[in-house]
Amino acid sequence: MATRSAHINVMIRAADKAARTLRRDYGEVANLQVSRKGPADFVTAADLKAEKTLREELSRARPDYALLMEESGASANHATAERCWIVDPLDGTTNFLHGLPHFAISIALEERGELIAGVVFDPIKNELYYAEKGQGAYLNDRRIRVSSRERLDDSVIATGIPFLGHGDRPTFLAELDAVSGAVAGVRRWGTASLDLAYVAAGRFDGFWERGLSSWDVSAGIVLVREAGGQVSEIGGKAFRRDSASILATNETLHRSLNRLLPVPAPKSA
Ligand code: IPD
Repeated sequence: MATRSAHINVMIRAADKAARTLRRDYGEVANLQVSRKGPADFVTAADLKAEKTLREELSRARPDYALLMEESGASANHATAERCWIVDPLDGTTNFLHGLPHFAISIALEERGELIAGVVFDPIKNELYYAEKGQGAYLNDRRIRVSSRERLDDSVIATGIPFLGHGDRPTFLAELDAVSGAVAGVRRWGTASLDLAYVAAGRFDGFWERGLSSWDVSAGIVLVREAGGQVSEIGGKAFRRDSASILATNETLHRSLNRLLPVPAPKSA
């Protein structure tokens, strides 16, 4: 059983509280699928409600920390505070909207530019992932490790697919062509924080995606690193908060998966 630090306890308490309202709202979404207008406005409200709960809980526990949140952006002290919570109140919004039970609350803690703690909570499966720098990664208080698969042809790799108005389809299709021909399977489950948590737990052997935001990936990055995995940009450069792509794998597959992913042609002016 893991010993949870004060920071991790604050993050888990906040996630737990927001999860209670998200679970209730998810139950309502099922009823709204058949209405003509659909549940879109309701889901936007659920997302905002969860974000408000998280903002209140995290600010009450640590009033001098900054916040960077998907819906409301950066807090006023964002440029000056030493520590910052990076929060996605509802990662996997499209799944939630369609009644697909795969979404998460994602909370990371950054200290002087370095990610030091992460919590990803899947409130439907009741799976709580957390990790802190130097302390390992845990799923429901059990230690997790990345997979030990060394061969691409045994591996299951997760990704994200560009969608209406988002992403570069030709680049993605070239990547999918290269990867799908070399691995046991490619999955697109629609919640980047859980894709990373699944890499940390050894369920997926790797994950790549372009165009994600820091709130989608920050907590998951801590999980993968603390579970013994590797995280970089596609191409191998060190991952930064504003990186345009992410590649996360177990310890051994990083180089081979990276080699497979084609470098996109520069855009002509
Ligand atoms: C989305 C999910 C999804 C990814 C999308 C993200 P959101 O986050 O993480 O897996 O493919 O690009 O926007 O919008 O549901 O918080």
